[in-house]
This record gives sequence, structure tokens and C-alpha cells, in this order.
Amino acid sequence: MSSWQQYVGVFLLAVVTSVASDNYKELTGNQVWKLNQEDEATVQQLVVDGLVDPLDHSGPSTSLRVTPETAGLVKEVLDQAGITYQVIVQDLARYLRVNDVIQRSQVRKELRAQTCTSSSCTAPLTDNYMTFDQMEYYLAQLNSHPRVSVSSIGKSIEGRDIWIVHINRSGCEGQEPIGMTPRFAYSAMKRRTVWLEGGIHAREWISPAVTLQIIHNITHDCSMGRGLEVYVVPMANPDGYVHTWTNNRLWRKNRRNNPDSSCDGVDLNRNWDFDYGVGASPHPCGETYRGTSAFSEPETQALREAMLQVNSTGTLQMVMAVHSYGQLLLYPYGGPASNPAPYKEKMENLGKLFVNTVNKVHDKTYKIMNANELYPASGTSQDWAKGILKAKYAYTLELRSKKTFVLKPDEILPTGQEVLEGLKMVFLALAREKNTQ
Ligand SMILES: *[C@@H]1O[C@H](CO)[C@@H](O)[C@H](O)[C@H]1NC(C)=O
Ligand SMILES: *[C@@H]1O[C@H](CO)[C@@H](O)[C@H](O)[C@H]1NC(C)=O
Ligand SMILES: *[C@@H]1O[C@H](CO)[C@@H](O)[C@H](O)[C@H]1NC(C)=O
Ligand SMILES: [Zn+2]
Repeated sequence: MSSWQQYVGVFLLAVVTSVASDNYKELTGNQVWKLNQEDEATVQQLVVDGLVDPLDHSGPSTSLRVTPETAGLVKEVLDQAGITYQVIVQDLARYLRVNDVIQRSQVRKELRAQTCTSSSCTAPLTDNYMTFDQMEYYLAQLNSHPRVSVSSIGKSIEGRDIWIVHINRSGCEGQEPIGMTPRFAYSAMKRRTVWLEGGIHAREWISPAVTLQIIHNITHDCSMGRGLEVYVVPMANPDGYVHTWTNNRLWRKNRRNNPDSSCDGVDLNRNWDFDYGVGASPHPCGETYRGTSAFSEPETQALREAMLQVNSTGTLQMVMAVHSYGQLLLYPYGGPASNPAPYKEKMENLGKLFVNTVNKVHDKTYKIMNANELYPASGTSQDWAKGILKAKYAYTLELRSKKTFVLKPDEILPTGQEVLEGLKMVFLALAREKNTQ
């Protein structure tokens, strides 16, 4: 590397670091409006038209994020529908600067930088959110574990790797939990596979944080995996995630530069080829913009190819996509036309076992429901896994909280703990099932 290249590299690093300190700036002038009445149809229309970002995630939304560009139009629509509202946050950038203090604190930043570096990052952080670089440091170290193989399934639009972690059940032979009857000895068990996806929506920081904890736990704990082959993509949308650290904490989509539009990004969880287009926005400015066609995005293409490969073993038993927020476990289908999905009852029963276990750990209330009962959403990885891969169990897990994406880092550890307890029960149940299909 020539010295001017080094110089440019250092300069760029400095710029990126200083930019990273204000990931609220693109939210300047954004407001939160609280509607005085519920009106699902009007709100859905506003969402599909790409005019608002609904902020209630456990039912019909009455809180909406409105940008300076759309405020006038949204007001017109609400006035026409006879819906009154109050502005409860005047400026989201200012609001987050005040309310996201823990994440922003200098002490946290320094601690984060020290505890996970390119030369040492032996465990995912549990008291801090990790930057994308730090996730890569961890995955690189993890790859030296004998049971683990980390590889790239493809690149994002901006050229970042999408990593997959395979945790091989083989290394756990002979380490079955004490008391496990020989019938359940790993070596005697039918091969079956679990697929986990995290980070497809950029702003849902708790998703990759918890997904990395799951990876770490299963890798180091033979009693967890129960003889299952586990594949995990902890960060499906690296470009979007980096953007939430540099420009916009509430960025959701990937970083597609949409031609003929001033708005960037495609919602990677509306871009899958099952019921594509229903319950998604056709407008590039929409938070749920589905893209120009199914699988138009390199990120969803990479996930599809990897999932097809795993599916070709004929052993795929469960697919779970980890999101936030709302404290919900959703099962297919998200589109009204396709319900009920095959094995609806089984998905519901296993889901109940999961949420009941989760809720006991830290006294939270997660609920199980059909995705369509929440709001119509299709073209999702969950629906594709059910409809095309025919996975017996397919879920979307919405983690903490019940009201915001901007979850304090103190909640990473307990959220991971409750989810792991739930998964422990689910894995045990899966291992005991006679048939995968
Ligand atoms: C898992 O590990 C075993 C034993 O080391 C090896 O034979 C097998 O190929 C591995 N499986 C995969 C899918 O890598
Ligand atoms: C995935 O595997 C299942 C079970 O083997 C099979 O029924 C299904 O057709 C496969 N899907 C695809 C797209 O190959
Ligand atoms: C993995 O999670 C389970 C379930 O919460 C827990 O019992 C176990 O101690 C954890 N293992 C490790 C190595 O952290
Ligand atoms: Zn999501």
C-alpha cells in the first residue's frame, strides 16, 4: 500500500468515526404523532403509500413517525378521515439524543472499543451493542472452534459479507446431557436442521445482539443444540445496520439506491417470492417497500440460495427470523389468502411452549399469534420458508420491547437469557419429534 493510500485510509476512518457519533441527524424534524382514535384501514393505507412509519408493533398503530416531507400530506389524510392527533415528539433527533444516553455515553463507547477488538473478541458483547466490524471480529475468532464453520453466503449492495455460521452437531457426540436416555443419544438421532436469521431489519439492534448470543451459547453448550444442525445468519442486512450507526438510528431497509426516487432502500423482509406484493408498499419511500420484483436484492438472493442448499438435505425442521419489537412469536402466513398454513396447530403448540418458558425467566409477556392477526405482511422470509421450503415450523420472533427499537444495552443480556431458555425447550421438543415433515 502506498503512503498516500494509507493517508486516505486514515482520513476516511477519521470521517467515519466522527460521523458515527451522530446517527440521529437524518431524523431531524421527524415527529411522532399519537392518533386519538384507532383506524386500522387509514393507517394501513398511509403505510402502504409510504407516508408514515407505524410505531406500535403489537396491534393497530396509533403512533406514527412522520417526516417533514410527508407531514402535510399525512395531516390532510387524517383530517379527511376525521382522525385527530397530538404531536408527542416534536423532533426525534433531539428526543433520541436525550433518551438514548446510555448507548451514547463515552464510558460505554470506550468499554465497547476495548472489549471487542480485531485481535480479541472471544464472546459477543452482552452489555453493549456491537458495531458491524465487531461482529466480524467475533465471527472470525469463532471460526477456529472445531464445531463451527463461518462462511460468506454473498455480498450486500455495498459489498459487505453476509456471514453464515454452521454449528455442527458432530462435535457433541458423547456429550449428551446426563440422564439423557440412549434413545436420544445424538449419534442415534435422525439428522434435523434449524435455521435462524437475524438483523434483516437494520434498526432492530437487539436482534443480531441476541442472535450472536444464541450462536455463542450453542457452540459452547452441547446440551443446548440437542443434536440439531444449526445454521445462523446473525446479520442479514449489514449495509442497513452500518447506516443505523452512522446516519439514521431508525433505518430499516437495505441501502438500494432506488432509481427515479429520492428514497433509498428495499424492505428485505417484503422481497421474498411467496405472496409477493401483498401487505407491502409499492412506493420506494415506504418503510415496507417490496422492491422492483421478488428477490431483486442481493441480500435476499444470498439468503435464498443458502436456505435452498440447507433445505436440499431434506432435514430442515424449523426456521426462525429474529426481529424486534413487540414481544411476539408469529407464525405463517402473514398474507390473508394463504391461511391456515400446514401444521398451524403444531406451530401454535410449540410456540406456546416457547412463550410460556420465556415469560417465566424475567417476567415478560411474549404472546403467540398468527402473523396475519397482527397486520398483513407477506413476501417475508417466514412465509417463504413455510410456503416454498415447506418447513414444518416457521416463526418470526419479535423481541423486546413493547414500545421502541431503541432498547437500552442493559437489556441485551436478559433478553438473550429468556430467549435461550425458550429455545432450550423448543430444541428438546424438536429433537424428540418422530418426523421432521
Ligand atoms: C460436521 O463434522 C463432521 C465431523 O467432523 C464432518 O464429517 C461433517 O462433514 C461436518 N458437516 C458439515 C455439514 O460440515
Ligand atoms: C425443501 O425441502 C422439502 C423437504 O424435502 C421439499 O418438500 C421442498 O420441495 C423443498 N423446497 C425446495 C424449494 O426445494
Ligand atoms: C445456554 O443457555 C442455557 C439456557 O438458558 C443455559 O442453561 C446454559 O447455561 C447456557 N450455556 C452457556 C455455555 O452459556
Ligand atoms: Zn423486523
